[in-house]
Amino acid sequence: MFILPQKDSGTPTTSPGSVSTQGLHSNHGDGLEREGSGKPDQKPLKLYGVGDPTAMFSSDSPYLSSRGSIIKWFWDSAEEGYRTYHMDEYDEDENPSGIINLGTSENKLCFDLLSRRVSPGAPLGGIPSCKGLSSLGFLGTLPPESLLLASAALGTTFPPSWESHLPTGLSQSDMWRVEPSLLQYPDWRGHLFLREEVARFLSFYCRSPAPLKPENVVVLNGCASLFSALATVLCEVGEAFLIPAPYYGAITQHVYLYGNVRLAYVYLDSEVTGLETRPFQLTVEKLEMALEGANSEGVKVKGLILINPQNPLGDVYSPGELQEYLKFAKRHELHVMVDEVYMLSVFEESVGYHSVLSLERLPDPQRTHVMWATSKDFGMSGLRFGTLYTENQDVATAVSSLCRYHGLSGLVQYQMAQLLRDRDWINQVYLPENHARLKAAHTYVSGELRALGIPFVSRGAGFFIWVDLRKYLPAATFDEEMLLWRRFLDNKVLLSLGQAFECKEPGWFRLVFSDKTHRLRLGMQRVRRVLEGKSQVAEDAPSC
Ligand SMILES: Cc1ncc(COP(=O)(O)O)c(C=O)c1O
Repeated sequence: MFILPQKDSGTPTTSPGSVSTQGLHSNHGDGLEREGSGKPDQKPLKLYGVGDPTAMFSSDSPYLSSRGSIIKWFWDSAEEGYRTYHMDEYDEDENPSGIINLGTSENKLCFDLLSRRVSPGAPLGGIPSCKGLSSLGFLGTLPPESLLLASAALGTTFPPSWESHLPTGLSQSDMWRVEPSLLQYPDWRGHLFLREEVARFLSFYCRSPAPLKPENVVVLNGCASLFSALATVLCEVGEAFLIPAPYYGAITQHVYLYGNVRLAYVYLDSEVTGLETRPFQLTVEKLEMALEGANSEGVKVKGLILINPQNPLGDVYSPGELQEYLKFAKRHELHVMVDEVYMLSVFEESVGYHSVLSLERLPDPQRTHVMWATSKDFGMSGLRFGTLYTENQDVATAVSSLCRYHGLSGLVQYQMAQLLRDRDWINQVYLPENHARLKAAHTYVSGELRALGIPFVSRGAGFFIWVDLRKYLPAATFDEEMLLWRRFLDNKVLLSLGQAFECKEPGWFRLVFSDKTHRLRLGMQRVRRVLEGKSQVAEDAPSC
């Protein structure tokens, strides 16, 4: 029923993974005229835009500086959905009619594994003993690995629950240590023992051709701070970074609130044209046009932001594409910030993920800065651990200087080093199980979307599906998109709307699937209810 509209254009598909864009092109025939659908008789999409983060600013405070007022305004205007959600959060027992959050990109599938590994009495290696398993009375004679694989296999067919209930194993603490140096002022770029561990970790998981160096590592409290710090140290006030859109929208404030840096959007669209092989494909041609456009408006562009795997598209860049984007940046002397915060959340085996650090030679190593964090890949967005890898010592030192305000507690640094060095647990327990659970949850949600006849873009990476709800908008406007979003919220399910990602086409939504079975099921029931009601409205509406 669903087609894969990947084009066989004769050009090699540089990316090995298949693009799942089920039905994307089979659902346009609803008679609605849409901005930028790419049809010849329609207005072409704008190819670039320069963000003015304060264009809608209002509400000065008599207590705050003008800067403080803007910072407060960002909070007030951006968080409506989350404020509503936090006032009425779903809880199976306490608030079953509360809001289900399919909007926040968090992995809630592996708390059982993580809590056992990182709590002070965690089992070493993380695998429960066979004795522990047999005491449970199920699968008791199997080795622990088999239990994990069994749940992984079950996961792909939507089991009643894809969270396996592994028992707590033997306690042997390796996560808790207190010594003077951990309680004193640290080296602001991070304790050496942690930077050494991060360098080893990234060398291994990014498959770097040569060992990465601890002196190129800076650790701090998450990628958000890193965006903020890099923007501040790389740009003058008012300068800009290019960013392919749709993109993870919070970057707008990350680079603006302290650094007063703007974003110049490289607009991508769903139509597959020319030599493109997938929807929303980034090409060097689009980068060139956006750069030229921003320059023509007098905006100085200092760098390019790449997110790989991409949020919200789940897109994964091939080594060839990465090289092309990096060479483009080098030609124009642009810095490249590569955000690889989802690099270990590629759950589809056929998708070959390549970190930028795996490239044999970076075109411009002094202007290439890579970021990673445990927020996504280890489902620990509340722990606040992130890292920068850059060969540029001026950049590393300037960011380190800001780490005085973004640093990590010595105790957390110790715990992170312990976690990152536990390759056995990561490789044999955590990653296979996490990927199996992500895949099972993704299989369930994508199956539901297919059953509803909804096209979507998904690539087997990240926690989200980029869903095409354009046919549910009576008119192709962002007002209608907002109305649909509100209707979801009124029906107690929070999604993220495309405008928050600076998507140019109204009607796209990001749906996060990395949640527990019961919440996901209920959330999808609510989504279905809204769409079944809403599709009636869309059908009734006159086409324009
Ligand atoms: C692409 C991307 N980068 C960075 C972040 C923020 O990361 P952190 O929680 O480490 O600040 C997010 C969070 O959603 C994200 O999606």
